Amino acid sequence: MLEVENLQLRLNGKLIINDLNLHVNKGEIYGILGENGTGKTTLAHLIMGTNNYKPTAGRIIFEGQDIADLSVSQRAKKGISLAWQEPVRIEGLRVGDYLKLSGNNFGIEPVKHCLGMVGLEPAQYLNRDIDNTLSGGERKRIELASLLAMRPKLAILDEPDSGIDIISLPLILNGIVGMSKQGSSVLLITHNEKVAEIAHRVSVLCAGKILMTGAPAETSLWFKNNCRACVHINVPVEEAEKL
Ligand SMILES: Nc1ncnc2c1ncn2[C@@H]1O[C@H](COP(=O)(O)OP(=O)(O)OP(=O)(O)O)[C@@H](O)[C@H]1O
Ligand SMILES: [Mg+2]
Repeated sequence: MLEVENLQLRLNGKLIINDLNLHVNKGEIYGILGENGTGKTTLAHLIMGTNNYKPTAGRIIFEGQDIADLSVSQRAKKGISLAWQEPVRIEGLRVGDYLKLSGNNFGIEPVKHCLGMVGLEPAQYLNRDIDNTLSGGERKRIELASLLAMRPKLAILDEPDSGIDIISLPLILNGIVGMSKQGSSVLLITHNEKVAEIAHRVSVLCAGKILMTGAPAETSLWFKNNCRACVHINVPVEEAEKL
Protein backbone atom coordinates (compact mmCIF):
# COMPACT_ATOMS: atom_id res chain seq x y z
CA MET A 1 0.00 0.00 0.00
CA LEU A 2 2.57 2.62 1.14
CA GLU A 3 6.32 2.22 0.87
CA VAL A 4 8.70 4.91 2.02
CA GLU A 5 12.23 4.28 0.82
CA ASN A 6 15.38 6.06 2.02
CA LEU A 7 13.38 9.25 2.53
CA GLN A 8 15.33 12.36 3.35
CA LEU A 9 14.32 15.98 3.92
CA ARG A 10 16.85 18.70 4.54
CA LEU A 11 15.52 22.13 5.53
CA ASN A 12 17.82 25.10 6.01
CA GLY A 13 20.81 22.80 6.17
CA LYS A 14 19.26 20.57 8.86
CA LEU A 15 18.33 16.92 8.24
CA ILE A 16 14.73 16.74 9.45
CA ILE A 17 14.03 13.30 7.92
CA ASN A 18 17.09 11.08 7.75
CA ASP A 19 17.08 7.98 5.54
CA LEU A 20 13.66 6.81 6.67
CA ASN A 21 12.22 3.47 5.51
CA LEU A 22 8.83 1.99 6.29
CA HIS A 23 5.97 0.13 4.63
CA VAL A 24 2.32 0.07 5.59
CA ASN A 25 0.10 -2.82 4.54
CA LYS A 26 -3.57 -2.65 3.59
CA GLY A 27 -5.80 -2.28 6.67
CA GLU A 28 -2.77 -2.01 8.93
CA ILE A 29 -2.44 0.52 11.75
CA TYR A 30 1.21 1.57 11.68
CA GLY A 31 2.36 3.64 14.63
CA ILE A 32 5.06 6.31 14.60
CA LEU A 33 6.12 7.02 18.17
CA GLY A 34 8.41 9.93 18.92
CA GLU A 35 9.08 12.81 21.28
CA ASN A 36 8.51 16.48 20.32
CA GLY A 37 10.41 17.75 17.32
CA THR A 38 11.52 14.35 16.05
CA GLY A 39 9.99 14.82 12.58
CA LYS A 40 6.56 13.21 12.90
CA THR A 41 4.49 16.04 11.42
CA THR A 42 7.13 16.60 8.76
CA LEU A 43 6.79 12.96 7.70
CA ALA A 44 3.00 13.45 7.48
CA HIS A 45 3.53 16.53 5.26
CA LEU A 46 5.90 14.62 2.98
CA ILE A 47 3.45 11.77 2.44
CA MET A 48 0.41 14.04 1.98
CA GLY A 49 2.35 16.58 -0.11
CA THR A 50 1.38 19.55 2.06
CA ASN A 51 3.56 22.50 3.14
CA ASN A 52 5.39 22.32 -0.20
CA TYR A 53 7.81 19.78 1.23
CA LYS A 54 9.58 17.77 -1.45
CA PRO A 55 11.94 14.97 -0.43
CA THR A 56 15.61 15.80 -0.95
CA ALA A 57 16.21 12.08 -1.50
CA GLY A 58 14.25 8.83 -1.46
CA ARG A 59 10.86 7.70 -2.71
CA ILE A 60 7.27 7.59 -1.50
CA ILE A 61 5.45 4.79 -3.29
CA PHE A 62 1.68 4.49 -2.97
CA GLU A 63 0.01 1.51 -4.64
CA GLY A 64 3.10 1.00 -6.79
CA GLN A 65 3.43 4.63 -7.97
CA ASP A 66 5.96 7.22 -6.82
CA ILE A 67 3.74 10.05 -5.55
CA ALA A 68 6.46 12.49 -4.47
CA ASP A 69 5.77 14.81 -7.43
CA LEU A 70 1.97 14.69 -7.20
CA SER A 71 -0.04 17.61 -5.80
CA VAL A 72 -2.00 17.34 -2.55
CA SER A 73 -5.28 17.01 -4.42
CA GLN A 74 -3.87 14.32 -6.74
CA ARG A 75 -2.77 12.38 -3.66
CA ALA A 76 -6.18 12.91 -2.05
CA LYS A 77 -7.84 11.56 -5.22
CA LYS A 78 -5.67 8.47 -4.92
CA GLY A 79 -7.18 7.90 -1.46
CA ILE A 80 -4.77 9.52 0.99
CA SER A 81 -6.19 11.70 3.77
CA LEU A 82 -4.66 13.52 6.69
CA ALA A 83 -6.13 14.67 9.99
CA TRP A 84 -4.06 17.46 11.47
CA GLN A 85 -2.61 17.80 14.94
CA GLU A 86 -4.70 21.03 15.14
CA PRO A 87 -7.94 20.38 13.21
CA VAL A 88 -9.17 23.09 10.89
CA ARG A 89 -12.45 24.86 11.56
CA ILE A 90 -14.94 25.28 8.75
CA GLU A 91 -17.17 28.16 9.78
CA GLY A 92 -20.73 28.06 8.48
CA LEU A 93 -20.97 24.32 7.95
CA ARG A 94 -22.92 21.99 10.19
CA VAL A 95 -21.49 18.75 11.51
CA GLY A 96 -24.08 16.60 9.71
CA ASP A 97 -23.45 18.32 6.36
CA TYR A 98 -19.71 18.05 6.79
CA LEU A 99 -19.96 14.31 7.31
CA LYS A 100 -22.40 13.94 4.41
CA LEU A 101 -19.88 15.65 2.14
CA SER A 102 -17.01 13.59 3.52
CA GLY A 103 -18.98 10.43 2.76
CA ASN A 104 -19.66 11.64 -0.79
CA ASN A 105 -23.36 12.33 -0.19
CA PHE A 106 -23.86 9.93 2.63
CA GLY A 107 -27.38 9.36 3.94
CA ILE A 108 -28.24 10.33 7.48
CA GLU A 109 -27.90 6.83 8.94
CA PRO A 110 -24.23 6.33 8.00
CA VAL A 111 -23.53 9.88 9.24
CA LYS A 112 -25.04 8.96 12.61
CA HIS A 113 -23.05 5.73 12.63
CA CYS A 114 -19.75 7.59 12.11
CA LEU A 115 -20.55 10.04 14.93
CA GLY A 116 -21.47 7.14 17.20
CA MET A 117 -18.15 5.43 16.46
CA VAL A 118 -16.26 8.36 17.99
CA GLY A 119 -18.67 8.65 20.91
CA LEU A 120 -20.58 11.73 19.79
CA GLU A 121 -24.35 11.56 20.33
CA PRO A 122 -25.88 12.31 16.87
CA ALA A 123 -28.92 14.11 18.32
CA GLN A 124 -26.63 16.59 20.07
CA TYR A 125 -24.12 17.17 17.28
CA LEU A 126 -25.72 16.82 13.83
CA ASN A 127 -26.94 20.43 13.74
CA ARG A 128 -24.01 22.07 15.51
CA ASP A 129 -21.94 24.53 13.50
CA ILE A 130 -18.28 23.65 13.03
CA ASP A 131 -17.04 26.80 14.72
CA ASN A 132 -15.28 27.75 17.91
CA THR A 133 -18.26 26.76 20.06
CA LEU A 134 -17.06 23.17 19.66
CA SER A 135 -14.32 22.18 22.06
CA GLY A 136 -10.93 21.07 20.74
CA GLY A 137 -11.69 17.46 21.66
CA GLU A 138 -15.07 17.58 19.93
CA ARG A 139 -13.41 18.96 16.78
CA LYS A 140 -10.83 16.17 16.83
CA ARG A 141 -13.57 13.59 17.09
CA ILE A 142 -15.58 15.17 14.26
CA GLU A 143 -12.43 15.14 12.13
CA LEU A 144 -12.04 11.44 12.85
CA ALA A 145 -15.74 10.81 12.08
CA SER A 146 -15.20 12.59 8.77
CA LEU A 147 -12.32 10.24 7.92
CA LEU A 148 -14.53 7.29 8.86
CA ALA A 149 -17.11 8.63 6.39
CA MET A 150 -14.45 9.18 3.74
CA ARG A 151 -13.01 5.66 3.97
CA PRO A 152 -9.61 6.70 2.61
CA LYS A 153 -7.18 4.01 1.50
CA LEU A 154 -4.60 5.61 3.78
CA ALA A 155 -5.42 7.86 6.74
CA ILE A 156 -2.55 9.81 8.27
CA LEU A 157 -3.48 10.79 11.81
CA ASP A 158 -1.16 13.33 13.41
CA GLU A 159 -1.56 13.13 17.18
CA PRO A 160 -5.24 12.15 17.17
CA ASP A 161 -5.13 12.19 20.99
CA SER A 162 -3.93 15.77 21.42
CA GLY A 163 -6.49 17.74 23.43
CA ILE A 164 -8.43 14.56 24.19
CA ASP A 165 -9.19 13.77 27.83
CA ILE A 166 -8.77 10.40 29.45
CA ILE A 167 -12.50 9.59 29.18
CA SER A 168 -12.69 10.38 25.47
CA LEU A 169 -9.40 8.69 24.54
CA PRO A 170 -10.87 5.16 24.26
CA LEU A 171 -13.58 6.59 21.96
CA ILE A 172 -10.97 8.07 19.65
CA LEU A 173 -8.98 4.83 19.69
CA ASN A 174 -12.16 2.90 18.98
CA GLY A 175 -12.76 5.11 15.93
CA ILE A 176 -9.23 4.45 14.66
CA VAL A 177 -9.57 0.69 15.08
CA GLY A 178 -12.93 0.98 13.26
CA MET A 179 -11.17 2.74 10.43
CA SER A 180 -8.74 -0.13 9.95
CA LYS A 181 -11.61 -2.66 10.19
CA GLN A 182 -13.28 -0.77 7.33
CA GLY A 183 -10.14 -1.51 5.30
CA SER A 184 -8.26 1.80 5.61
CA SER A 185 -4.56 1.72 6.37
CA VAL A 186 -3.67 4.11 9.16
CA LEU A 187 -0.39 5.91 9.82
CA LEU A 188 -0.84 6.72 13.50
CA ILE A 189 1.50 9.48 14.67
CA THR A 190 1.82 9.97 18.41
CA HIS A 191 4.11 10.58 21.36
CA ASN A 192 1.84 8.52 23.62
CA GLU A 193 2.64 4.82 24.12
CA LYS A 194 -0.99 4.19 25.17
CA VAL A 195 -2.15 5.34 21.74
CA ALA A 196 0.51 3.31 19.94
CA GLU A 197 -0.85 0.17 21.67
CA ILE A 198 -3.66 -0.13 19.10
CA ALA A 199 -1.18 -0.33 16.22
CA HIS A 200 -0.16 -3.58 14.55
CA ARG A 201 3.45 -2.39 14.30
CA VAL A 202 5.17 0.66 15.73
CA SER A 203 8.36 2.50 14.79
CA VAL A 204 10.25 4.78 17.15
CA LEU A 205 11.31 8.03 15.46
CA CYS A 206 14.12 10.28 16.68
CA ALA A 207 15.98 13.03 14.81
CA GLY A 208 14.09 12.01 11.65
CA LYS A 209 15.37 8.43 11.83
CA ILE A 210 13.61 5.19 12.73
CA LEU A 211 15.46 3.68 15.67
CA MET A 212 13.47 0.45 15.99
CA THR A 213 10.26 -1.20 14.77
CA GLY A 214 8.28 -3.89 16.53
CA ALA A 215 5.04 -4.99 18.13
CA PRO A 216 3.45 -2.29 20.35
CA ALA A 217 4.36 -3.84 23.71
CA GLU A 218 7.97 -4.36 22.74
CA THR A 219 8.26 -0.89 21.21
CA SER A 220 6.61 0.85 24.20
CA LEU A 221 9.05 -0.78 26.57
CA TRP A 222 12.00 0.18 24.37
CA PHE A 223 10.66 3.76 24.09
CA LYS A 224 10.22 4.03 27.88
CA ASN A 225 13.68 2.66 28.61
CA ASN A 226 15.55 4.53 25.89
CA CYS A 227 13.68 7.65 24.72
CA ARG A 228 12.02 8.75 27.96
CA ALA A 229 15.36 8.50 29.73
CA CYS A 230 17.43 10.02 26.93
CA VAL A 231 19.18 13.36 27.47
CA HIS A 232 19.91 13.69 23.75
CA ILE A 233 16.33 13.75 22.45
CA ASN A 234 16.33 14.61 18.77
CA VAL A 235 20.10 14.58 18.45
CA PRO A 236 21.14 12.37 15.53
CA VAL A 237 22.39 8.98 16.75
CA GLU A 238 25.85 9.49 15.24
CA GLU A 239 26.26 12.80 17.09
CA ALA A 240 24.74 11.53 20.35
CA GLU A 241 27.37 8.79 20.44
CA LYS A 242 30.12 11.43 20.50
CA LEU A 243 28.56 13.37 23.38
N1 LIG B 1 11.65 25.17 7.88
C1 LIG B 1 12.35 24.58 8.87
N2 LIG B 1 13.66 24.85 9.06
C2 LIG B 1 14.37 24.27 10.04
N3 LIG B 1 13.87 23.37 10.89
C3 LIG B 1 12.56 23.05 10.76
C4 LIG B 1 11.73 23.63 9.75
N4 LIG B 1 10.48 23.11 9.87
C5 LIG B 1 10.54 22.24 10.91
N5 LIG B 1 11.77 22.21 11.45
C6 LIG B 1 12.24 21.39 12.57
O1 LIG B 1 12.02 20.04 12.24
C7 LIG B 1 11.86 19.26 13.41
C8 LIG B 1 10.69 18.35 13.27
O2 LIG B 1 9.48 19.08 13.33
P1 LIG B 1 8.06 18.33 13.37
O3 LIG B 1 7.00 19.35 13.39
O4 LIG B 1 8.04 17.34 12.27
O5 LIG B 1 8.16 17.57 14.77
P2 LIG B 1 7.10 16.63 15.51
O6 LIG B 1 7.78 15.33 15.74
O7 LIG B 1 5.82 16.64 14.77
O8 LIG B 1 6.97 17.37 16.92
P3 LIG B 1 5.68 17.57 17.89
O9 LIG B 1 5.59 16.32 18.72
O10 LIG B 1 6.11 18.75 18.73
O11 LIG B 1 4.49 17.86 17.06
C9 LIG B 1 11.75 20.28 14.56
O12 LIG B 1 13.00 20.30 15.23
C10 LIG B 1 11.48 21.58 13.85
O13 LIG B 1 11.97 22.68 14.58
MG1 LIG C 1 3.93 17.28 15.25
